[in-house]
Amino acid sequence: MLETASRLISGAGGDMKTLDQLRVRYLGRKGELAALFKGLASLPEEERRGAGKALNEAKDELERLWSAAVESAREKVQGRGEIFDVTIPGRRPLRGHLHPITQTAMEIGRIFGGLGFETVEGPEIELDYYNFEALNIPRDHPARDMQDTFYITDDVVLRTHTSPIQVRVMEKRRPPFRIIAPGRTYRCDSDVTHTPMFHQVEGLMVGESISFGDLKGILTVFVHQMFGPHVGLRFRPSFFPFTEPSAEVDIQCVMCRGAGCRVCSQTGWLEILGSGMVDPEVFRMVGYDPETVTGFAFGMGIERIAMLRYGIDDLRLFFENDLRFLRQF
Ligand code: DAH
Repeated sequence: MLETASRLISGAGGDMKTLDQLRVRYLGRKGELAALFKGLASLPEEERRGAGKALNEAKDELERLWSAAVESAREKVQGRGEIFDVTIPGRRPLRGHLHPITQTAMEIGRIFGGLGFETVEGPEIELDYYNFEALNIPRDHPARDMQDTFYITDDVVLRTHTSPIQVRVMEKRRPPFRIIAPGRTYRCDSDVTHTPMFHQVEGLMVGESISFGDLKGILTVFVHQMFGPHVGLRFRPSFFPFTEPSAEVDIQCVMCRGAGCRVCSQTGWLEILGSGMVDPEVFRMVGYDPETVTGFAFGMGIERIAMLRYGIDDLRLFFENDLRFLRQF
């Protein structure tokens, strides 16, 4: 019987229906094995033990053969995707989160929000007038070179900085006000430290007696909230066509704390933004009287702030969208 049964089981070819019939026929409560077990009672005492043992072994063997046949039949069917096994644990859906650049931009917005700055936006496709002309950037300025600017037409560009938003805001509002304006900016540039698209935040505060002291105070609070209260900063004289006087702000190197390392080129300082008092020429272009209003402006690269904040040394990581990188934030 054992021989016939195992031949039939392997001959079922993985057909579930046949396998089930064989189970009933041999292993079922009224099956052949059960009948043989019943027959044990009528055997003489001395044969009963041996026969019982043999029957139990046959039963084990048949059950093993049958389960194996069923298992391999299941695998085959699942491989073809034909049955839906509701007992398989589900796959957890991946939960996304904000990109580190977005997180940094939001943190900058939160800090300046606490200082009374309202967040505004401007167009990425910008008129040459707002991107250059109204910011006192003359026709022959190197920033206007085709090398640096993506021109759409002779007088339409992809904005090369967020500064044109200053002009748009001033045209619409009367002082006093304070705004910041984050957004994408574009320059025809691509290497380890430059990507053709990057992000900036512009800041502008205009009123009746805004001074360079206000600029220093606001930016000092920003640096201390962004990088920690112990990080030193310095204002270094600089030049921008739309501010006078102008200053660049350096912070103490976040890697070596000012001791000098590769990141800060052994200087102990890292440049993080450009700033200055709004140039009277810019005020005149938007119809403000430079005799009665003053103001300051600043602009910074968000990627740069994010790199310093998280200790990242390759700008391109932000734009490759490698999940192994992004999951760390
Ligand atoms: N727009 C400048 C740039 O992209 C940065 C900048 C410097 C903005 C000084 C300002 C400023 O508002 O006052 O390099």
